[in-house]
Amino acid sequence: MSPASQPPQPDLKAIRGSFLDFIDDPFYVPEADSVRYLADGLLILEDGKVKDFGAYGELQNRYKELPTTVYAERLIMPGFIDTHIHYPQTGMIAAYGEQLLEWLDQYVFPTEGKFQDKAYAEEIAEIFLDQLLSNGTTTALVFAAVFPQSVDAFFEAAERRSLCMIAGKVMMDRNAPEALCDTADSSYQDTKALIQKWHKKGRLRYAVTPRFAITSSDEQLQRAGELLAEFPDVYLHTHLSENVSEVAWVRQLFPQCNGYLDVYDQAGLVKQRSVFAHCVQLTEAEFQRLSEADSAIAFCPTSNLFLGSGLFKLEQAKSAEYPVKLGLGTDVGAGTSFSILQTANEAYKVAQLRQQKLSPFQALFLATLGGARALCLDDLIGSFDIGKEADFIVLNPRATPLMACRHAASAPSSLSELADRTFALIMMGDDRAVEATYILGKLVYEKAEATLP
Ligand code: GUN
Ligand code: ZN
Repeated sequence: MSPASQPPQPDLKAIRGSFLDFIDDPFYVPEADSVRYLADGLLILEDGKVKDFGAYGELQNRYKELPTTVYAERLIMPGFIDTHIHYPQTGMIAAYGEQLLEWLDQYVFPTEGKFQDKAYAEEIAEIFLDQLLSNGTTTALVFAAVFPQSVDAFFEAAERRSLCMIAGKVMMDRNAPEALCDTADSSYQDTKALIQKWHKKGRLRYAVTPRFAITSSDEQLQRAGELLAEFPDVYLHTHLSENVSEVAWVRQLFPQCNGYLDVYDQAGLVKQRSVFAHCVQLTEAEFQRLSEADSAIAFCPTSNLFLGSGLFKLEQAKSAEYPVKLGLGTDVGAGTSFSILQTANEAYKVAQLRQQKLSPFQALFLATLGGARALCLDDLIGSFDIGKEADFIVLNPRATPLMACRHAASAPSSLSELADRTFALIMMGDDRAVEATYILGKLVYEKAEATLP
C-alpha cells in the first residue's frame, strides 16, 4: 500500500496534571461520591474525544509513547458552560442606573438594532467568542438579535472555531421599537429556515427564542410552540419571572393565564429542552411545574444583582422533592462579567443573603456537568468521562500575587483542603486564572505572559 492510500492516523495525545470534574450532583450526593479529583492524572485524547482518563500511575505504561503536555501546579477542569447570555449585548455591558424594563428601552433595544448590519454582527460575534474562550467558557446558550443575519453571523463564527453552541433569533412582535419587531408569521418562517440551516450542523444546536412574554403576542408564542412540536429536539430559550414590574405587566397582558409560567405552558413551551433565565420571582407551584416538565433554569446572579431584580431561591430549585435542572448564566450585558468563576462567586453571595449555602463543589458542578445536564448535553460534554468531547480548561489557582498568597503551592491533601482551595479560586478568580482553553483536544486559547510596564 502506498503511503498516500493509508488510512489517516488517529490524532492521539496526552495531558498530565491535576484534574477536577464531577461524576454526580453534589447537591444530592455526598461530595466524596460526586467529586472526582486526580492529583496526578492523565487524560488521553483521540481525535478530539476522551479516549482514556485516570491516575497517571495506572495509565502511564499503556501510553508511554504519546506526546504529553504537562501542567504542573494547575487545575484542569471541563470547560465552563454558560446557560444564558446575549451576544449582541457584549458592547453595552455595564450600562448605568436602570432596572429591567427601563434598561431594555434605554440601552438594549438601541444596541440590538445595530445587528441588522451583518458585518457589525460578525465583528461582535468574534469579540464575544474571544471573551468566552479567554474566560474558560466552551459552550453557551446564546440570544442573538431579532435579525436572522445576526444568527448566521454567530453560527458561522462558532462553526469556524468548532464550538458546541446553542443560539437562536429573538422573536419579538410587540412592546419594542418598530424596527426591532418581527410578526408572528415572519418569526415562524425565519426561525424555521434557521433551524433547517443550523440545527445539528456539527456541534451547533438551535433554540427557539421568544424574548419574554411581554414582547410576544399570544399568536407568536403559539407559533413558537408549533416549531417545538415540528422539531422536537430543538431548544426553547426565554426569560421568566425576573423582575416584579415585569411579572405585573405579564398578568395584565395575559389575564386568561394562571401566572407567568402558564403563559408559556399554554403555548406548549414548557418542555425538557426548555431553558428559562432568572426565575427570581417564581412561585412554589411554578418551581414544581418546571420540575415535572424536566425544564431547566439559568441562574444569573451578577445580572440579578446588577438590575436589582432580586435573590434567586437556590434551595427551592435544588429541593429533593421537586428538583429542577440548573445551570449558571452570565446574562451579559445585564450580567457584569463573562467569567463563570465570578458568576459562581456572586451565586455564593446571593445564597448567603438568604441564609443558604452554595459549596465550592456545588458551584463548580453547576459550572460544568450541571450546566451540561441543564442543556441536555451531558452525553457529550461536562466531564472527562471516556467518549466525551474534549473541551477543557487549565486554571491557575495562583494567578495573581494575592491568590498565590492565599493558595499554597503544594497539592491539597484532602477533599476539605481541595474545597478550601477551589473556594478561594471562585472568590478571587476570573479570566486571569484561565491559563489555557482546549476545544476538541486542540489548544485554542493561551493566556499571554504578563509583561512588565
Ligand atoms: N428580559 C427580556 N429581555 C431581556 C434581556 O435582554 N436581558 C435580561 N436580563 N432580561 C430580559
Ligand atoms: Zn437575558
